[in-house]
Amino acid sequence: MRNMPAPVLTIDGPSGSGKGTISRHVANRLGWHYLDSGALYRAVGLAAAWSQVDLSDADDVAACAERTEIHFETGEGSAEPRVIVNGKDATHQLRMETAGAAASAIAAMPPVRAALVQKQHDFRRVPGLVADGRDMGTVIFPDAVFKVFLTASAEERAQRRYKQLKDKGVSVTLAGLLGEILARDARDANREVAPLRPAEDAVRIDTTGLGIDAVVERVLALMPSR
Ligand code: C5P
Repeated sequence: MRNMPAPVLTIDGPSGSGKGTISRHVANRLGWHYLDSGALYRAVGLAAAWSQVDLSDADDVAACAERTEIHFETGEGSAEPRVIVNGKDATHQLRMETAGAAASAIAAMPPVRAALVQKQHDFRRVPGLVADGRDMGTVIFPDAVFKVFLTASAEERAQRRYKQLKDKGVSVTLAGLLGEILARDARDANREVAPLRPAEDAVRIDTTGLGIDAVVERVLALMPSR
């Protein structure tokens, strides 16, 4: 037992499927650690822009990924952690759709993904980890005991993002967001390396029309032995 790695629950899905919120609530309920892998890609995109790295040069961006320092400051309960990138609080900037689009562009580069593997594995600590992303169950933690794939209609995902960004005072249009979300989904699902797809052993949950608590309970119900 002593050498058993900490258990992992992976929660993958497209943007706006509720992964982040659900993962934080589930992690809080279990008392487990939380990995927001999308924030790592977003942070690298931002750090690359800060240091004027050529975003079309995969090796330069990967080198930037290696040297970027990313820390999460966990809040109370299931609050969103603050993300500190190279010593600067980048929480607000990272949530913008422009950061999502930059993340999606650099996330398609194999050397960039490779540079982030160890950083992600480092989050696996006792008593357990809830890992949220696109390839958590397929590539990063294929041996996870619990795997979930969350979906929701594109319209509902755009609505959720719209509300999230509005609440944060960011000015966006619903139609614009829907277009951006569909473009990002297509890029994430069609890329050659670690495309967005459910692991074969993942349980799919369609969250369209479901509230946060209902989804959290469904996820927790999949974990009888916890
Ligand atoms: O989840 P989030 O919207 O923060 O992710 C931003 C982008 O980072 C995604 O659109 C995707 O391209 C990329 N990503 C990824 N693999 C992950 C997490 C995020 O490729 N595990």
